Amino acid sequence: MSEPNKNQDLNAPNSASRRTFLKVMAGIGIGAVAVGLGRGAIQNIIPASVGVSGYPTLTLYKSTTGTPLQISDLTVNNPAAVIFSYPLQNEPNFILRLGDSSNNDVSLNPYKVQIPATGGTYTAPGGVGPYGSVIAYSAVCQHLGGTPPSIHYYPPGTTIPNHPGHSGSNNTGFINCILHGSTYDPFKGCSVVTIPTKSPLPSVVLAYDTTKQTFSVSSLVGPTIQGHTSNLTGGSPLPSSSSTEVTTIAV
Ligand code: FES
Repeated sequence: MSEPNKNQDLNAPNSASRRTFLKVMAGIGIGAVAVGLGRGAIQNIIPASVGVSGYPTLTLYKSTTGTPLQISDLTVNNPAAVIFSYPLQNEPNFILRLGDSSNNDVSLNPYKVQIPATGGTYTAPGGVGPYGSVIAYSAVCQHLGGTPPSIHYYPPGTTIPNHPGHSGSNNTGFINCILHGSTYDPFKGCSVVTIPTKSPLPSVVLAYDTTKQTFSVSSLVGPTIQGHTSNLTGGSPLPSSSSTEVTTIAV
């Protein structure tokens, strides 16, 4: 697992995306975040022991309206980074509604994911929601911690830049980090498609309440979030014990 990037140059390209994320979080009122600080800088300030004792179960709310996220709020194959913080502040995660090349929802089964860095495996959860197509992953690149908009989803039919061995448009959707070209397959548990990453993106465990038609998050599985020794430590708890807000970063 990569060590925290404690000496990160805040003028480096990947820092720009982190600063953008922090600014968005501050703008929607999620926590007293010091705007302009990078992820590495925050981890220098907050002792690794700070965090939470266990995974909270939180309902996903829209930052724009303060109401629970609904399936109609999610666009199939949306290239924009629709994200929420979990399990700590400033830990972005994608929520994706995945579809085929005609933008029809694709129902996602659990997937046995390989971790090239360790040789281990784990089972990533399948999709949830009325069509089984909604899925969530850490939005922190497992290589060196790139965050949206540097890392985001590329729908079918788009061209992935900085993608080793790939030319032309892709037939299925991928998540790619433009900083160094790591690519992940969100249809297969965000397993590794191209290096330099050696770890998949951690999966977020989502649930869908068919009565209330709401989404909730309850834990993560897979590798530890990049830059952490534990998913639950090394950052500040979220401000609410019942919800986390979903916002969108344009890419
Ligand atoms: S930080 Fe994402 S590929 Fe290097």
